[in-house]
Amino acid sequence: MKVPLDQIADPGSDARAVLDRLEPSRLPEHVAIIMDGNGRWATARRLPRVEGHRAGIRAVRETIETAARLDIPVLTLYAFSTENWKRPRHEVLTLMGLLKEYIKLELKTFLKHDLRFRPIGRIDHLEPSVQRELERAVEETSSCRGPLIQIALNYSGRQELTDALRVAVREASEGRLDPDDIDEDWIEDHLTTHGQPDPDLLIRTSGEQRISNFLLWQLAYSEIYFAQVLWPDFNREEFLKALLAYQQRERRFGGLPQAGNVFTRPKDDNGKT
Ligand code: FPP
Repeated sequence: MKVPLDQIADPGSDARAVLDRLEPSRLPEHVAIIMDGNGRWATARRLPRVEGHRAGIRAVRETIETAARLDIPVLTLYAFSTENWKRPRHEVLTLMGLLKEYIKLELKTFLKHDLRFRPIGRIDHLEPSVQRELERAVEETSSCRGPLIQIALNYSGRQELTDALRVAVREASEGRLDPDDIDEDWIEDHLTTHGQPDPDLLIRTSGEQRISNFLLWQLAYSEIYFAQVLWPDFNREEFLKALLAYQQRERRFGGLPQAGNVFTRPKDDNGKT
C-alpha cells in the first residue's frame, strides 16, 4: 500500500476493521470484477433499469480509488459483454452515454492516482464517439506508472480465444508458425491481456454464481468470491471483505498445500514442460 491506512478507510469505521485484518504483502496482483445487479437495484426502487447503471458509477469510482490506494497492479471491470447488445436499445444507448460521461469526468482522477486506462474487447465495433473518448483516455494516461484499470467493453472470452485461434491457423497456413510452437505461452501472448498476471481474484456481485463469458482462459486458477450485494451497493467495505476472503483461501494451483519436493511437470513430445 502506498498511502497511509487512514486514506483508505476512516479509523473506527467498519471498512477500517476489515482493512486492519488485511496483510499488505499478500494482496492480489490482479482483481477482476463482474459488476452485476444494477437492474435489480433499480427495479427494487421502482426506478427504470438505467438508474441502476447510473447508481453503479459511484461503485465503479469507489472501487477504482480503493484499488489505486491499495496499489493493486491490475483491476479489470466487466462493463459490457457482447451479449449485452440484446438489451433494449434505450438501455444500451444509456450505458454507452454513461461510459463516455464517466471517462470524461474521471480522467482527472486517473491522472491524479497515476492510473493507466485500457479498454479490452471489440472496441472497434463501438460508436465512434465512444471510441474517441476511450482513445483519449488511453493516450492521456499512457505515461502513468501506477495500477492498470481495464474496462471490458463489448467483450467476450470465447471471442477472444476464437480470435487467437484464427491468428494461429492463418499464420500456420502461411507457413509462418509451426503448430508445435503453439503452447500456453503462445496463446497468452495472443490474448488481449498479454503481459499481465492472470486475475488472482474474481468478484461477482448480486449473488449470481456464473462467469458469464468473462476472461475464460485467464480465470483458470482464480479464486472466486460472490458478494451478496447488488453492484450499486458495492463499496469500500465490500471490496475489502472480498480481499480478506481471498487472503483466507489456500491457493494450490492443482498441487498440495505446502508441498515440498514437488515433481517438475513432465516434458511433452516436443520437450516443452
Ligand atoms: C450488470 O447489471 C451491469 C451492467 C451490464 C453494466 C455495468 C455498468 C456500470 C456499472 C455503469 C457504467 C460503467 C462504467 C465502467 C463507468 P444488470 O443490468 O445485468 O443487472 P440485473 O442482473 O439486476 O438486471
